[in-house]
Amino acid sequence: MNKEAKKILYQYLGKEDPVHGIFHIERVYKAYQIFIKDNSSINQETKKALEYAVLLHDLGRSNPKKGRSNDHGVESVKIIKECVRKGLLREMPKKEWVYYAIKNHPKKFDTSDKAEKNFLLIFLVMLDGTDAIGEAGINRAVAWVEKGPLFPWEEDKSRKEKIKRVKVLFNNPDKRTNKDRKKMQGNSVLEEFVYDYTFIKQIYYFLKKEGKISPAFDKEMKNRFKLSEQFVKDVLKTFSL
Ligand SMILES: [Fe+2]
Ligand SMILES: [Fe+2]
Repeated sequence: MNKEAKKILYQYLGKEDPVHGIFHIERVYKAYQIFIKDNSSINQETKKALEYAVLLHDLGRSNPKKGRSNDHGVESVKIIKECVRKGLLREMPKKEWVYYAIKNHPKKFDTSDKAEKNFLLIFLVMLDGTDAIGEAGINRAVAWVEKGPLFPWEEDKSRKEKIKRVKVLFNNPDKRTNKDRKKMQGNSVLEEFVYDYTFIKQIYYFLKKEGKISPAFDKEMKNRFKLSEQFVKDVLKTFSL
């Protein structure tokens, strides 16, 4: 891992946050390493820029010194620019691209924009999202149970409708829209998990079509999807939803 970026990371990111803290970055970094390995569709400079983007994207999120920010993409860029002003991160290539990717990673993005700069953002969003599926995703989902129920409880008036939507999305990931995010916010773990699963699956298929996925990463993603599918099936079955 890039030593300088790592030092900055440990300065700014809390360890205790299981969802967005330092351990999240370490896991996303591992996914990044698999993603770039033998990936001839991406040039060295972009790989390097992506490394910085992966390591620094959440600096403004769980910052124990500043508390949580509403727009952590913007906050992260502010911190990075501060570091650059102090003479740090000199070797970070394509700085403007890195800022663009980090600033926009919490928001939606446009897959019709095939500029290399936009691909950097899409790579970052997908790698960030690998942590929301598979084993880490399930662990993170369970850690979120404190904040919401595992699935829509019986008292929930829109329970039926919510479970129905979960099943539709789970079986047809391409049906997910940005509206689902809003609808699901503050809802159950199951809904959040399925939303993330479908979101990442859409990006993954898009990048696969664009020829940006290496065989090693493909294998990794297939495993993560398989495990995620098993988790959702188990929850639906166990609780007869
Ligand atoms: Fe983030
Ligand atoms: Fe993240």
